[in-house]
Amino acid sequence: MIPVSSRASTIEYAIRDVVVPATKLESEGHSIIKLNIGDPIAYPGLPTPRHMVEAYSAALLDGNNGYSPSYGMPDLREAIAADESSKGWPCSSDDVYVCHGVTEALQIIFAATLEEGNKVLAPGPHYPPYMAYPQMYGATTIEYALKSDDGWAIDLDDIESKMDDDVRLLVLINPNNPTGNVAGADEIQKLLNITKKWPNCMIVADEIYDALDFSGKQVSVASLSEDVPVFSLNGVSKVYYAPGWRIGYLAIHDPSGVLLNVRDGIERLLRSRLCASTPAQLGYLAGLNGNRDWMNEHMSKVQSRRQLCLDRISKIDGLEVEAPGGAFYMFVRLTDEMWSKNDKEFVLQLLHQEHVLVVHGSGFSPEKGAGHIRIVYLADEKTLNTAFDRIDSFLQRNRTAKK
Ligand SMILES: Cc1ncc(COP(=O)(O)O)c(C=O)c1O
Repeated sequence: MIPVSSRASTIEYAIRDVVVPATKLESEGHSIIKLNIGDPIAYPGLPTPRHMVEAYSAALLDGNNGYSPSYGMPDLREAIAADESSKGWPCSSDDVYVCHGVTEALQIIFAATLEEGNKVLAPGPHYPPYMAYPQMYGATTIEYALKSDDGWAIDLDDIESKMDDDVRLLVLINPNNPTGNVAGADEIQKLLNITKKWPNCMIVADEIYDALDFSGKQVSVASLSEDVPVFSLNGVSKVYYAPGWRIGYLAIHDPSGVLLNVRDGIERLLRSRLCASTPAQLGYLAGLNGNRDWMNEHMSKVQSRRQLCLDRISKIDGLEVEAPGGAFYMFVRLTDEMWSKNDKEFVLQLLHQEHVLVVHGSGFSPEKGAGHIRIVYLADEKTLNTAFDRIDSFLQRNRTAKK
C-alpha cells in the first residue's frame, strides 16, 4: 500500500463527516432532515438574488469564460474596496485579493505567514479549518476560550495568557460559527490592545456573517485598528446567499506598514494558482453594485426561524442554548448526563433513530465544544417543528430507557 501523507490523514471536517452515515441511510430509502450544513441555499425561501444569478449567467453567455487577473477582476476589487471602506477603514482596491472563497483566502494567509513552530490562536469552539490548515504549514492552533455561560463571549484574559512571540495569527470569527456570538467594539478594542504588545502578530477577522447580525453590535475589526495588521475576510457565501460560487476575499489593513513582505508572498501564491472563477466574480459584482433591499426580506425569514428555534429549545427538557447574536447557528447544550459526555453518539443515535442530522459540538473543538450540538436554523417552520418534535421524543425515550 502506498502511504498517505500524515498531513492528509489527520484532516477532519465534522460538518461533512456526519454526512457519510446520513447518505447511507438515504440510499436505503430514508428521508433525513438535514440541519448540519451552513448553506442557506439548502433551505427554502432564501435564494441567491435574481440579479446576481442573471449577471453570472450573462457572463457565461457573453463569453467571460477565460482566466482573469490573479488578484481579482479590477471592477470587483474596486467594489469590494468601496464596501469595506463603508465599514469604516480606508480600503483601496490594491488591498483586496479575490479568492475561491474565504476557505482559499485562509490557506493563502496561512501559507504566507506561518513557519514551523508558529501558533495560531483561534476561538474554541471554531469553524474547523482554523484547526485543520495551520498544521499543514508546521504550525499549531491553540484555542482561546469562549465563555459558554456568557453568550460565548471571547475570554480576553485567556487570550492574554496565551499570547507569546510564536503567535503569528489571532483569529476572530465575528459573528462566530458555531456559537453565533457577536463581539462588539469594546471587546475588539481590548483584543487590539492585547495584540499590539506582540509585534509579529496579525489579526484574521473572519467577518463572513457580518450582515447577519441581530445584536446591532457587529463592527469591522479593521475599522478599529490603528496599528495592528488585520486580514478582513468576507465573500459571497453567506450574506449574498451563493456559497456554491466559491468567491470570497481577503482585504489587507496594514496601518503600520509591516506587511510588505507578507503581501508579496500572498501575491506570489495567488499568481501561482492563476485566478478565481471569472463569471462568479461578475455575479458577485452585481450583488455589491445592486440594490440591497432584498436582504431585509431574507433577514426577516432568518430572524423568525431563529425565534422559533429559541422558543422550541426553551421548552425541551435536555436542551439549553445561549441566544445567538448573529450568523444562522445555535450551539445547543445537551444537559442530560448520558449525552453531555458523548455528543457524537447523540448525533449518530439521533440520525439513526429519528433521521435528523445535526453536528456534534466536539467537531468544533474536542475540549470546548463537547457536550453540545450545532443546529443550522434555516429550515422552514414546519421542518424545524418536526425536527424538534423528534429531538424531544428522542431525549425522552432514551431517558426512560436508562431508568
Ligand atoms: C466562519 C466561516 N468562515 C468561512 C467559511 C467558508 O467560507 P467560503 O464559503 O467563502 O469558503 C465558513 C463556512 O461555513 C464559515 O463558517
